[in-house]
Amino acid sequence: MTVQAMPVPGSATDFGSLSGRVAIVTGAGQGLGRAFAKAFARSGAVAVIAELNAAKGEAVAKEIADAGGQALAVATDVASEDSIAAMIAAVERRYGRIDILVNNAGIFSTLEMRPFDQIPLDEWERVLKVNVTGPFLCSRAVLPAMRRAKWGRIVHMASGAVTMGRPNYLHYIASKGALAGMTGSMARELGPDGITVNAILPGATFTEIERKTVSPEQKVRIVAQQCIPRAETPDDLVGTVLFLSSDSSAFLTGQCLTVDGGATHR
Ligand SMILES: NC(=O)c1ccc[n+]([C@@H]2O[C@H](COP(=O)([O-])OP(=O)(O)OC[C@H]3O[C@@H](n4cnc5c(N)ncnc54)[C@H](O)[C@@H]3O)[C@@H](O)[C@H]2O)c1
Repeated sequence: MTVQAMPVPGSATDFGSLSGRVAIVTGAGQGLGRAFAKAFARSGAVAVIAELNAAKGEAVAKEIADAGGQALAVATDVASEDSIAAMIAAVERRYGRIDILVNNAGIFSTLEMRPFDQIPLDEWERVLKVNVTGPFLCSRAVLPAMRRAKWGRIVHMASGAVTMGRPNYLHYIASKGALAGMTGSMARELGPDGITVNAILPGATFTEIERKTVSPEQKVRIVAQQCIPRAETPDDLVGTVLFLSSDSSAFLTGQCLTVDGGATHR
C-alpha cells in the first residue's frame, strides 16, 4: 500500500505552480514575512525579501540559500516610491519577471498601545504611510510585469483585529481596515489582467518577535476564544499565503480570508 505523505508544519505546501515564480515579500526580515519568504523558497519560487532593515533581509536570504533555496534581499522602504522603484528594477534585471507580491511590511510589533486620543499625529501618519500607502505603491509598481505576463497574485496582510473592535491602536486598525477595503476594488480593476487580489486577516499570531500589542493575559483570552485552542503560529498562515499565490486559487479574488483558528466566524 502506498501512503501519501502529508504536509507537516514548516514544510513546503505543493500547489504545483510556484516553481519558477518570483515572489516579492515586503517586510520579510522577521516574523511572518520571514516565514512566508522561506515557504516560497521551499516551494521552488524565488523569494525576494524587500525589507527596510538591510541586515535582517540579508540574514533571511542567507538562511534560504543555506537551505538550498533561491532568494534575493533588496533593502526597501515601502513608504518610498523611489526605493520601491529601485527594488522592482533590481528584481526585473535579475529575473525578468514578478509573479507574486505579498504586502506584508507594516508597522506592527514596534507599536505602542495607547488610547486613540493620545496617539501623536506624526505617529498616526507614519503608520498609515507604511501600512496603506506602502501596499498601494508596491501593488502599482508590480503591475507592468504582471500585466505583461497576464498573470499575477497580490496578497495583502490585513488583520482580524479590524473585525474585533480591539482598542488602543486606532492607527493600526484604520490601516488594516483600509487594506481590507482596497482588496475588492483592486481585484475588480485587475481581474481582466489575470491578476487576483486577496487579503488575509490573521488572528494574533506569535512569531519570534516580542511585542506589546498582546499582553500575556490577552493571549490566554484569545486562545480560549478560538475553536482550535492553541496559540497561532506563522506556519498556520503559510498554507493560505501559498494557496492564494498559486494557480489553484485562479478564480478566487477580492476576498478577505480570516485565519484565526475559528476565533471569529463571518
Ligand atoms: N503577528 C500577528 O499577530 C499579526 C496579526 C495580523 C496581521 N499581522 C500583519 O502581518 C504583517 C507581519 O506581521 P509581523 O508580526 O511579522 O510584524 P513585525 O513587526 O514583526 O514585522 C514587520 C516587518 O516589516 C518591516 N518594515 C517595517 N516598516 C517597513 C518599511 N517601511 N519598508 C519595508 N519593511 C518595513 C520591519 O522591519 C519588519 O521586518 C504586518 O503587516 C502585520 O500588521 C500580524
